[in-house]
Amino acid sequence: FANVFKTVKPDGVQRKLVGEIIRRFERKGFKLVGMKLLQASEEQLRQHYWDLREKPFYNGLVKYMSSGPIVAMVWQGLDVVKTARKMLGETNPADSLPGTIRGDYCVEVGRNVIHGSDSVQSAQREISLWFKHDELFCWEECSEHWIYA
Ligand code: GTP
Ligand code: MG
Repeated sequence: FANVFKTVKPDGVQRKLVGEIIRRFERKGFKLVGMKLLQASEEQLRQHYWDLREKPFYNGLVKYMSSGPIVAMVWQGLDVVKTARKMLGETNPADSLPGTIRGDYCVEVGRNVIHGSDSVQSAQREISLWFKHDELFCWEECSEHWIYA
């Protein structure tokens, strides 16, 4: 199965949404294989959002993301990258349907609570940027046979 990188952004941590967000991915059937609370440096965030470096909101984005602790996670599962993006909703919460994380918990694009990798390739890049090899865990899920046929 594939892995995906997610982070609860500083606003999500401040607003006590960490448990709710983890709960959604757990209940869906995805497996948590890495997680930590950390304060991201601007340097790391510039690398993380390198693709957006030309955008007018880039500096503000880096400031926002470094404004408090974030919860970085790696989740594993069948088609997890694509499915998790659907669970997040659209980039702009205003375009996100109720039932999605951004649709349910936030209102503005500049405070959209959670990040999720947009492709398998960027997931791999982001995981190696934020996690060391020994911070990821391979463990047997006892419910696996009840999640996958
Ligand atoms: P991430 O999961 O955070 O990567 O969001 P995304 O993949 O849905 O969107 P994208 O990678 O294009 O943008 C990264 C982040 O930049 C968004 O999640 C927003 O927090 C922020 N962002 C994107 N577009 C805008 C914008 O037009 N204005 C502002 N202020 N922020 C934006
Ligand atoms: Mg993105």
